[in-house]
Parts: sequence; C-alpha cells; structure tokens
Amino acid sequence: MSRLIDGKAVAAELRARVAEAVAVLADRDISPGLATVLVGEDPASRVYVRNKIRMCAEVGIRSIEHAPDAGISQAALLDLVGRLNADPEVDGILVQLPLPAGIDASRITEAIDPLKDVDGFHTTNAGRLSAGLEAMVPCTPAGCMILLRSVCPDPKGLRAVVVGRSNIVGKPVAQLLLAAHCTVTIAHSRTVDLDARCREADILIAAVGRAEMIRGGWIGPGATVIDVGINRIEGKDGKGVLVGDVEFEAAKEVAGAITPVPGGVGPMTIACLLRNTVIAACRRRGMDVPEAIPPA
Ligand code: GUN
Repeated sequence: MSRLIDGKAVAAELRARVAEAVAVLADRDISPGLATVLVGEDPASRVYVRNKIRMCAEVGIRSIEHAPDAGISQAALLDLVGRLNADPEVDGILVQLPLPAGIDASRITEAIDPLKDVDGFHTTNAGRLSAGLEAMVPCTPAGCMILLRSVCPDPKGLRAVVVGRSNIVGKPVAQLLLAAHCTVTIAHSRTVDLDARCREADILIAAVGRAEMIRGGWIGPGATVIDVGINRIEGKDGKGVLVGDVEFEAAKEVAGAITPVPGGVGPMTIACLLRNTVIAACRRRGMDVPEAIPPA
C-alpha cells in the first residue's frame, strides 16, 4: 500500500507560498497582474478562466479580463496580444485554449512576449528549457515536479520514465527531470515493450492521455507515480467517472507513492499559473524571485 500524494494539499501550500511572495512584492509597490483572454463562449473554457481569476484574487494577483466574442479575427486578437505585451500593468498573459476555428493558436502563442508567457507555451521558452536556461516552465510539468519533490526531495540519479511526448507535458517534464539529474526515458503509446520500460522506472510520469493504459503490473515496487491523465469513462453504474492514465487501484498496491485522479496533478496546474505570474513579475523587473516560491 503506497503513500498517497495529496495534490489538493500541495497546491494549497503552493498558493499560500505565492500569497507570501505577493506580500513581499507589495512591500516594494509591485502588484503582479495576469491578463486573461477568453475568446467566445466555450462552457468548459469559461469555467477554467473563472477559476483562474478566483484563485488569482485569493493570493492577491490582479486580473485583467478580456473576453472578445468568438467572431474576433486573428488580426484583432494579435493586436490585443500586442497591446498586452506593451502594457506595463500586465505581467502575465494567458490566452485560453482552444481558440475558435479560423484562428491559428500557434500564431497567437508565438505573439506573446516570452517574458509574459505564463503558460510556458512559446517556443522561446521551450527552447530555453531544453538548453538549461532560465525559462517560463509550463504549469502542468512544473506541478508534476513539485508533487514529485514533496515525496522525493532529491531525485538525482534516479531512473525516470515519462510516458507521453506532448509539447505541453511530456517533453517539458522530461527536461525538468533531466535538470534534476534523473536518467530520463521518454516513452509513448508506440514504444516497444512499454510495460518493461515502465517497470524499470523509479519515477513514472504518465501523460499519454489514455484511460488506465498503464496497468498496475507495470509499476516497479516502490516507484513514485505521477498521473497526469484526466479521462472520463463510464463507471460500473453507467455514470461518468474520472480516471487517470494509470490503473490506480492496482498500482497503489505496488507503488511507493502515487497521485490520485482527481486530486493529484489537476489542482497543481492553476497554483503553478499563479507561481509563474509572480516569477514573470520579478524577472521583467530584473528582480530575484522571493524565496517562498519553490523551484520546478
Ligand atoms: N486550456 C486548457 N488548459 C489550458 C492551459 O493550461 N492554458 C491555456 N492557455 N489554455 C488551456
């Protein structure tokens, strides 16, 4: 029976640390501000953005809300991003994805000033992370690392296997594990002998996006398992249930520590967005980031 990694508790602690850092900045008359751009009426996106704005308020971060309608042209959206880049009151810019058909999301992401790119999606930040330079780190990978360190403070030398190779989770989390001196394998749904590769892991990051694909028997005894997946499947009673990419009930009997779904990585993502906004506010001013902010 493994130790459960409580993402809600770790996220609450991170938000408390962000609030502490915001207070340190307030003493220097700095008030970090996050611009949110919600295009159109997508119900899920509206909920996500509302939660982000609420959490900003809780830690003392200002929100600057923009909600253009779904008919906005790409040129007009690029113009808005340009104005936010130039606005000294804005430290971070979050353009909620997905964007309506007809708008090229990568054109928009690439138009954001990399110093204000609190999602860490800009290729400058991806490249800087790969090169081991200071970068804005995407929120979910940063959350994975903070959860990992909560049970394994120094993962140096351990074998980490990342299952999933997306630009927003798999690749950046692999870079962060490398930076933490792990020996890293990036595997994916087409990896030969994926079960054997997973069994070799001291640290397993599951970010493949397939419900319970990683079976309990694939987990090495004592491994730390971080499950990034959020998949809705039909439960035994016919109702929808959320499950991760790992077969949790079986895996928890073998792993040393494991994140549940929900309540693991999920709560960390917004907390890391708040963290990134404080980091952006400091870096733009050439200031050190307050000590309350943990590394990714
Ligand atoms: N849509 C779903 N998740 C995210 C996220 O983390 N950032 C942005 N910008 N859009 C999203």
